[in-house]
Amino acid sequence: MLRVVFFGPPGAGKGTQAKLLERKFGACQVSTGEILRKAARAESPLGKQTSSYLARGDLVPDDVMVKLVAERLKEPDCGSGFILDGFPRTIAQADDLEHMLKQNGQPLASALCLNAPDDVLIKRLSGRRTCKKCGGLFHVVFNPSAKPGVCDRCGGELYQREDDHEEQIAARLRVYEEQTAPLKEYYRGRGLLREIDGVGSVDEVRERVSRALGDGAK
Ligand code: AP5
Repeated sequence: MLRVVFFGPPGAGKGTQAKLLERKFGACQVSTGEILRKAARAESPLGKQTSSYLARGDLVPDDVMVKLVAERLKEPDCGSGFILDGFPRTIAQADDLEHMLKQNGQPLASALCLNAPDDVLIKRLSGRRTCKKCGGLFHVVFNPSAKPGVCDRCGGELYQREDDHEEQIAARLRVYEEQTAPLKEYYRGRGLLREIDGVGSVDEVRERVSRALGDGAK
């Protein structure tokens, strides 16, 4: 059963690859960023509490995120495996996740870290378009939708995320280096880290992800 964590800098392609894995393995993709953006659009209590963090490119406090993920993992669709996309993002979140999964008897198979240099990340983020309805991911150059502004999968409206502008991208890259990159050592120490080169076409990266998963995907 697939039980993996996906991390890496913003724009590395985590969401794109996590959605492909979800379709291939029937495991559920839990994208914490997507959950928070939906909450912000719905102006739910969670959205009101967290939208300013997203707008600045800062991390939402650990206690809020841990509670959110703990509840999401209890839902029935996560019973057939999960791909945590964007969680954990700090050592404190990783410790809480480890504790949570131990209690549930669901150890992680691997922690996948997708890497790419800043120039590639900036090009990907500045051209990204996201579907408001299904979260589908497109890019104005690398992966354009058939009809501009319309999602190929569900017909939903495509929009540019408010954190995909220059100032917020720079902030997110900084936050990644300071708070999330230390997870590499954390998971290396547990024998779970699989570093993957995220440069290349979506298919090339997908092949590398499959190879990195190896037996962990069975
Ligand atoms: P989140 O939504 O998780 O954003 P992120 O980690 O910054 O990652 P992105 O979604 O920007 O990039 P990605 O790696 O998924 O790339 P994608 O596949 O889209 O989080 C947003 C915010 O929520 C955070 O800043 C924070 O405030 C909050 N948050 C979330 N989780 C949190 C947590 N655990 N703790 C605290 N706060 C949290 O690809 C990017 C673009 O490139 C797309 O257009 C895609 O089509 C294109 N692309 C993808 N792969 C390729 C390829 N191989 N070649 C060419 N183009 C490609």
